[in-house]
Amino acid sequence: MQPFRWGILAPGHIAEKFAEAITAIPDAAVTAVGSRDRGRAEAFAARYAIPRAYGSYADLVTDPDLDAIYVASPHSHHRDHVLLALAAGKPVLCEKPLGATLAHASAMIDAARRSNLFLMEALWTRFLPALATARGWIDAGRIGTLRRLEADFSFRGGWNPESRLLNPALAGGGLLDVGIYVLSLAQWAFGSLPDPAASSAAIGETGVDEQAAMIFQWPDGAQAVLTCGVRTSGTAHARLAGTEGSIDIPSFFNAQEVILNADGKEERIRTPHLKNGFEYEIREAMACIRGGRLESPVLPWRESLRLTEVSSRLIDHWGVRYPF
Ligand SMILES: NC(=O)c1ccc[n+]([C@@H]2O[C@H](COP(=O)([O-])OP(=O)(O)OC[C@H]3O[C@@H](n4cnc5c(N)ncnc54)[C@H](OP(=O)(O)O)[C@@H]3O)[C@@H](O)[C@H]2O)c1
Repeated sequence: MQPFRWGILAPGHIAEKFAEAITAIPDAAVTAVGSRDRGRAEAFAARYAIPRAYGSYADLVTDPDLDAIYVASPHSHHRDHVLLALAAGKPVLCEKPLGATLAHASAMIDAARRSNLFLMEALWTRFLPALATARGWIDAGRIGTLRRLEADFSFRGGWNPESRLLNPALAGGGLLDVGIYVLSLAQWAFGSLPDPAASSAAIGETGVDEQAAMIFQWPDGAQAVLTCGVRTSGTAHARLAGTEGSIDIPSFFNAQEVILNADGKEERIRTPHLKNGFEYEIREAMACIRGGRLESPVLPWRESLRLTEVSSRLIDHWGVRYPF
C-alpha cells in the first residue's frame, strides 16, 4: 500500500507531537508542512525530515500529493483553516476543540458534508487503547451500573497574557484547552452529554476562564463532577464509579493504565503508547479516509457538535467573550 501522505498546517507545539507519532505508523508519512512563515516551515521540515515546506497555508492545502491535512492552529482559527483545506479537496484531522464556537463547528461540519470529505476532531484520548479496555469492563457489567464520573484536567500553564492559553483573541481559557477532555470523557462514559446542572468559573485578568468546576446529571441520576484549569495543576485523574465497583484512569487524557476495583480485588492493565499516544487518532483518521468514511464512528460529528454546544453554553454563562 502506498504510504498515506499527511500535510501539517501550523507547525507549533502539538504539530511536533504529530510528526513524532507518525514514525510509529509504517504506512504513513508527513509529506509537507505549511506555516505563515516560510522560515518556520523550513526549520520544522528539517527537524522532522519532511520533504516539502510551504510559506503559506494556501500553498500547503493545494499540494496535489497530499491525502489529508492536519490542522494544528489555535482554536480561533480552526474554522478558517479547515474550510481552506476542504475547499482544496482535502480530508481533515483538526485539533481540539473542533470549533471555538457552535457557529464555527457547524460551518466546518456543513462544509465537510457538502464537499463529501472526511473531518474529525483530534481528541486523541478517545482513541487510546486504555479507554477501550475501560469500555470493555463497563459493557461487561464489571462495575455494575455506571453512576458517577469524577475527572480533572488542570495544569500550570504559566502567565503569558498573549499566549494561546490566555488570549481571548485565540479563544483561550481552560475549558476549550483542557475542559474539553473532561466533557468528552463524560460524553464517552454515559453516551450523551446533558446541559450542565451547575458550574462556576474563575475569570482571570485577560477575561478568559482560568479554572472551572462543572456538574452534569443524567435523567437516571448518574452524575459527572468535572474540573479544569490552566493556572494550577490538578490530578488529571478520572474515576468511573458503578454500583458494583470502580475504574480508575490515572492521567486519563494520556492514559496508559486502567485499574478495575470489583469483586473485592484489583485488576490493573497497562497499555503503553506505541510512540506518544497520538498514533491512535492518526490511524483512525487514515482508516476512515481509506474506507471512504466522512466521519469516525468513535467520535462522530454529532458528538463533536454537542461538545461545542455545551462548551459554548458554559462560556456564555460565565460571561467570557471572544473578540471574533
Ligand atoms: N492534543 C493535545 O494534547 C494538544 C496539546 C496542545 C495543544 N493542542 C491543540 O493544538 C492546537 C495548537 O496548539 P499548540 O499548543 O500547538 O499551539 P502553538 O504552539 O501556539 O502553535 C500554533 C501554531 O498555529 C499557527 N498560527 C496560525 N495562526 C496563528 C495566530 N493567529 N496566532 C498564533 N499562532 C497561529 C502558528 O504557526 P505558524 O505561524 O508557523 O504557521 C503556531 O505555531 C490547539 O487547537 C490546541 O488546543 C492539543
